Amino acid sequence: MYVTEEIDIKNEIKRLKKDLNAVILAHYYQESDIQDLADFVGDSLELSKQAARTNAEIIVFAGVHFMAETAKILNPMKKVLIPDLTAGCSLSDSCPAPLFKKFREEHPDYVAVTYINSSAAVKALSDIICTSSNAEKIIRSIPEDKKILFSPDRNLGRYLINKTGREMILWDGTCMVHEQFVQEKIIKLKADNPDALLISHPECEEKVLDISDFIGSTSQLLKFVRESDARKFIVATEVGIIHQMKKFCPDKIFIPAPPEDSTCACNECPHMKKNTLEKLYLCMVELQPEIILSEELIEKAYIPIKRMLDLS
Ligand code: 13P
Ligand code: SF4
Repeated sequence: MYVTEEIDIKNEIKRLKKDLNAVILAHYYQESDIQDLADFVGDSLELSKQAARTNAEIIVFAGVHFMAETAKILNPMKKVLIPDLTAGCSLSDSCPAPLFKKFREEHPDYVAVTYINSSAAVKALSDIICTSSNAEKIIRSIPEDKKILFSPDRNLGRYLINKTGREMILWDGTCMVHEQFVQEKIIKLKADNPDALLISHPECEEKVLDISDFIGSTSQLLKFVRESDARKFIVATEVGIIHQMKKFCPDKIFIPAPPEDSTCACNECPHMKKNTLEKLYLCMVELQPEIILSEELIEKAYIPIKRMLDLS
């Protein structure tokens, strides 16, 4: 099905939302129009919490696949739609369930703390899930005498080792967007803008985090810029978040951190950007693509997610 020019997509999405008793949840990395149409925009933790408490019959998840899967696991009886079923995540892809199972079997006495950027099958093999908002709290909740496996983001894992002093064995995964930010280019940008603060997502490499003024999840970065007295920020995360930053702080200046290859827009997540306004509209008309998971997988993956929500 195609969208003809006569259709006012934005109004149609609003109408469908009412007719279907649907809620639209969007991540900060979605395109601005989608963020503006959403009932709720947030980071991974906030979106999971919203998914757990919604009364809507249909959840339309404008984010990547692992996020929509988490919404389905928390709402097995509801229909969960995603505008593009192929919107994946390089971190999640770096950790296939059969290899993760082997990793666990090789370390039988370890507690497996798994970042939410992972598939339902990997979550089902984990002890507890975390997001970048609550990762430090989750790590600190693990008894001192327990050894930890942290998967799949090695940069977030390294950051947590430095923060908490806990030894952990790390899965060797990275985010294809955040690993594009390189220290040399940021140092140059900082020199050109000495009044700017560098704010970074913990998925960035250690060399970038080392020179950052503030490190946090997308929501924590947004909160920081709203509360800070500074007027200028270099933002080392996916550029989509700058839409909300500008909305809340129209007088402040936000400079996207440059990716390694300045000739391409690689500080945009190609997976997140697979969702478009048109695909959002079509998925609400056609009631697909839908997230389908087996009952058994939902039951197993729910346990470590619930442990996280109980601690958050
Ligand atoms: P947040 O939970 O900070 O929004 O991170 C999600 C993500 O995919 C970052 O790349
Ligand atoms: Fe995954 Fe990175 Fe995209 Fe986030 S920005 S969804 S971690 S690939």
